[in-house]
This record gives sequence, structure tokens and C-alpha cells, in this order.
Amino acid sequence: MPRPVPASPTPLPAYLRDTYTWAYLDRRSVRWLDQRVVVSAILWGNADRLMNAAVAEFRPGQRVLQAAAVYGDFSLRLVARLGDAGQLTVVDVAPIQVANTRRKLLRWPGARVRVADLAEPLATTFEAVCCFFLLHEVPPHSRRCIVRNLLSAVEPGGRIVFVDYHRPRWWHPMRPVMALVFRYLEPFANSLLAESIETLVPESADFEWRRETLFGGLYQKVVGVRR
Ligand SMILES: C[S@@+](CC[C@H](N)C(=O)[O-])C[C@H]1O[C@@H](n2cnc3c(N)ncnc32)[C@H](O)[C@@H]1O
Repeated sequence: MPRPVPASPTPLPAYLRDTYTWAYLDRRSVRWLDQRVVVSAILWGNADRLMNAAVAEFRPGQRVLQAAAVYGDFSLRLVARLGDAGQLTVVDVAPIQVANTRRKLLRWPGARVRVADLAEPLATTFEAVCCFFLLHEVPPHSRRCIVRNLLSAVEPGGRIVFVDYHRPRWWHPMRPVMALVFRYLEPFANSLLAESIETLVPESADFEWRRETLFGGLYQKVVGVRR
């Protein structure tokens, strides 16, 4: 009898392996980076504000896709906002991140966490999609694929919420520090700062957009509602 061929695992994108192994693929970093205090420090004390700003865009009872795992309690806040009648699906390409997010969401039966590459088309659609600090970590070509796929996953009348870095104003005291962070740790971030999320792909023409910047322009929240 021929043996069934095991499903091939989703390959990790080269940019993730080459640039972010230290941050997302190493068990020791997952343990220490996944702490509230660390997440808060990385976002200069703005973690609560940014997470609340994202989560407030969703309503109880919605079916929501969270694009990629996020350190700290972001998924817990989102799933609590959706409530028992809602459904959260988290998709991440790294099995170690999927396992970590599953552990955090164990007490929420409405939550699903699965491995997939968001640069590949999604098989399902959602009432809403949330993408928290993913776009600055991917190179421009993959960023466009991801945004296109996420937009395609939004049902008519549904919304998509991006929270990410934005170019800080010239006087921002953190500007020189962030320039170093982007240069040495986040090599794709500057390419995101040079473009507008809401015009990245032609498919965005089907959405009404609004954008808000926070903390002296260092962060942005961009919300699109499908017409
Ligand atoms: C959301 S981003 C960064 C979030 C934020 N910096 C934080 O503190 O967690 C990090 C995640 O994106 C995931 N990721 C990167 N590229 C991806 C892709 N193409 N598809 C799915 N997940 C991806 C990584 O595996 C990682 O878990």
C-alpha cells in the first residue's frame, strides 16, 4: 500500500529567517519579548494606547482575522472585545508563534490560530481584518501581496485596520533613535514610511479610508471600509 504523502509544511519567508530569527523564531526571545513590560518599552510606553485604538475598531460578535501574531496581550484584548459571540482567527507563518498564541488563547473556544503565509491568498473571508505592526517588517513586494490578500479577505461593508510605524515629525525627540532602530533592526521599515498604506495596491480603491497619526507622527492607524 502506498503511504499517504504528509502535507508539506509552510516554508518560512526568507526575510523572516534572515532578518528576524532573533525576534520571532528563537524560543528564548519569544519568552522574553512576549512580556507586557517589553512590548510597552519597544513602543515607548504607547502599547496600551495603540492596542486600544486598534481593538476599538471592532464590534462584539464579529468574525475577525488577526494578521500575524503579536507579542503581549494584544490577541487577548481583541478576542475579549469580540466576546463569546465573536470569532477570532490568528494567522502566522511561524509555527513557534502559532503555538505561543494558541497557548495565550486557550481559554477562548471562539479563537483559532493557524499557520499560513499571508503573502499567499486566503481561503476565507472575514467581517473585519486587523494588521498590527506587520507591514514594516516585510519587504515591499511581500507587503503588497499581504495587503492585497488582506483586502480581498474583507467582506462587503467590512473593515480593515492597520496600525504601524509612520514617519515621525521633524522635531520628534525619538526620531534619531528610531532612525538607528530602522537602520540596524528593522531594515524594511523605511520603505513603509515612504508610502501610504491606503494606496499600496489597486484593490484599495474599493475602500473608504481614514488615517490618524499618534505620538508625534511615529505611529499611524489606517482604517478602510469596503464599499
Ligand atoms: C505582527 S509582526 C510584529 C508585531 C510586533 N512587532 C510585536 O511586538 O509582536 C510579527 C509576526 O509576523 C509574522 N509574519 C511575518 N511575515 C509573515 C507572513 N508573510 N505571513 C504570516 N505571518 C508573518 C512573524 O512570524 C511574526 O510572528
